[in-house]
Amino acid sequence: MDLLFQGFFLVTFYWVTLASTAEQTGVLPPPSRVSLQWVNDFCVNLSWSPPENLNRSTCSVKYLVEETMSGGESNKFTKVITNYQTCLDHEGGVTYTVRTQPDTCGQINSSEGITLSIPPVKEKLVKDFQCVYYMSGSMNCTWNPTSEATDLQLYYWWNDGERTHLPPELCSLYLYSGNLKTGCHLHGSFLDVTALYPVFFLIKGTRGGSALRNTFHRLPRDNVKPSPPKLKIEPVPDKPNQLKLTWKEPSGFHPELKYWDYEFRITNCEEKQPKSAYQDTYVEVPYDQRCQFRAQVRAICNYMCGKGASDWSQEESYGQDSSDWSFHVAFIAIPIILTICVIVLLLFLKKLQVLILPQIPDPRKFLKELINSSEDQGVVRPNLPWDSSLDERKVFVPEQTEVCLKIDVLELKPEAEPEPELKPKAEP
Ligand SMILES: *[C@@H]1O[C@H](CO)[C@@H](O)[C@H](O)[C@H]1NC(C)=O
Ligand SMILES: *[C@@H]1O[C@H](CO)[C@@H](O)[C@H](O)[C@H]1NC(C)=O
Ligand SMILES: *[C@@H]1O[C@H](CO)[C@@H](O)[C@H](O)[C@H]1NC(C)=O
Ligand SMILES: *[C@@H]1O[C@H](CO)[C@@H](O)[C@H](O)[C@H]1NC(C)=O
Repeated sequence: MDLLFQGFFLVTFYWVTLASTAEQTGVLPPPSRVSLQWVNDFCVNLSWSPPENLNRSTCSVKYLVEETMSGGESNKFTKVITNYQTCLDHEGGVTYTVRTQPDTCGQINSSEGITLSIPPVKEKLVKDFQCVYYMSGSMNCTWNPTSEATDLQLYYWWNDGERTHLPPELCSLYLYSGNLKTGCHLHGSFLDVTALYPVFFLIKGTRGGSALRNTFHRLPRDNVKPSPPKLKIEPVPDKPNQLKLTWKEPSGFHPELKYWDYEFRITNCEEKQPKSAYQDTYVEVPYDQRCQFRAQVRAICNYMCGKGASDWSQEESYGQDSSDWSFHVAFIAIPIILTICVIVLLLFLKKLQVLILPQIPDPRKFLKELINSSEDQGVVRPNLPWDSSLDERKVFVPEQTEVCLKIDVLELKPEAEPEPELKPKAEP
């Protein structure tokens, strides 16, 4: 009985060993007991155990961890130890896959992957989260609260290697728009262009009675926006066709470090001349004295400082538009005079038109004339009331139609005003 059981166990054990031995199957077994734990608000610890049923004295393995963000971007890490800790913005959802890889196992393939996911956060308390790193040690982050989000609180945290187990800090200086919290001013030596670790943000709040949280992360050196430089335009001695541009570099950053390149926007006789300066302290530019010279400058963060640029500076000007009056006066005056002439001409023509085409005569006068003429001749004209004498005077004449009218002339009493009665009768 015992022997039989022992034999069965051995056989089973042997079979299991054979089945899971690398050389027999060609594929390594996956890691076991894979788990994902939150270390704090921003960091997770992915851990696992070596594959079961693997004779590790004949086959040593390592592990491949693949981290895939919501956008499809993925990072791969090879590990000999059995955990991977990472701090990142999990807001959009992250998928972790870990698989066993052969190290000294001969010809054998990696295992299938074991996948664990952190789902994306759908409910948003704020939108348009933006940070502006505007001077050494100072950064403002702003947002737009979504409707009905209340009790907003911002926490921030960074990982310079020492702070993993420290809690995030609460914002100490909020920026407001009316009564709404729309930003936070951050200050501290951890905000530096040389720092390569991101700052993490946690916004907590409530909406409709339920507590929500959103996370973000920003690298200060990717969000640099200094104040615009101060520009000065000076003449160059003995070179009337040149101007010298000098400027004060953005304040608030390390003055000795060459963080900035400069870009200029120049207008001089309508020409726009984009011009750049790389870490110089002045530039000389051509100057056309006929026109005013206007210029703006902005500072652009170079590789030393990161990414970003200032706004354009205030526009500075030099000189005036040329006093070559005849040219300018002619240039402006000729079109004006021409326009006035055209208007006068049009008015004149309108007056002329009134003279040429007189107003339509009064119909009562017209009727009187008609009656007079019929009394004179005692004959009814065939085409009345269209008098040919009127035709000659260019009164509006519609297309003539053949209409025959029978007009009865009443006997007139001498003292009474005649009352003509026209009774048109259609003839067959
Ligand atoms: C290992 O993987 C390759 C490519 O995926 C495949 O062609 C090969 O058959 C695999 N080998 C074994 C032993 O499964
Ligand atoms: C990660 O988890 C593993 C297993 O639970 C543990 O041994 C390890 O100490 C953890 N690492 C950290 C940094 O918490
Ligand atoms: C592992 O392999 C070695 C060498 O082939 C062998 O001596 C040892 O017994 C094996 N161990 C197990 C647990 O199978
Ligand atoms: C950042 O916030 C501080 C504090 O309110 C303010 O004084 C400063 O002007 C702001 N800077 C920028 C660039 O918004």
